[in-house]
Amino acid sequence: MLTKTIKTKSSQETYDFGKHLGEALSFPLVIFLRGEMGAGKTVFAKGFVKGMGIDDEVTSPTYTIVNEYGDPPRVFHFDLYRLQDGGELYEMGFEDYLNQEGTLILEWPDLLLDDSFEHKLEITLKSDFHSPDEREIILVTSDVKIEQLLSDC
Ligand SMILES: Nc1ncnc2c1ncn2[C@@H]1O[C@H](COP(=O)(O)OP(=O)(O)OP(=O)(O)O)[C@@H](O)[C@H]1O
Ligand SMILES: [Mg+2]
Repeated sequence: MLTKTIKTKSSQETYDFGKHLGEALSFPLVIFLRGEMGAGKTVFAKGFVKGMGIDDEVTSPTYTIVNEYGDPPRVFHFDLYRLQDGGELYEMGFEDYLNQEGTLILEWPDLLLDDSFEHKLEITLKSDFHSPDEREIILVTSDVKIEQLLSDC
């Protein structure tokens, strides 16, 4: 298992870090993206998508639940905050998204009970009340391929 922690001092730095990771991890993976409201999950996702070489505008999937980026779509960006339970997610065809050979970025992923994904990366953004523009970003993975790529980052 690999754990890596970095700190950012601005929204731009979080975006840039996301972009850097998107460049390094440009193959289908599942990202569990955690953090309180306003932690910077969507900022990170914007950078990540850009880093994957996709120029689409990335907006928060708060109301849509999922946004797709790339043509054909290569990133599926979910915000599960408004869902009641995992069942609702499967009813909207989550299984199909898993089979599409794309990267899944999941904000508020904890209603997902089945987390036996291939190539899973967990990212947590933490804010510090005393420094409103700083974030600690913690990356955790047990996936060998991601571990290798991250240790070169
Ligand atoms: N270091 C930082 N990294 C990321 N965002 C920051 C940072 N400092 C300040 N911010 C601000 O925090 C906010 C993060 O908003 P964002 O929509 O990315 O949060 P979120 O985690 O996706 O929230 P939600 O759970 O509501 O979807 C933005 O307004 C951004 O400008
Ligand atoms: Mg968000």
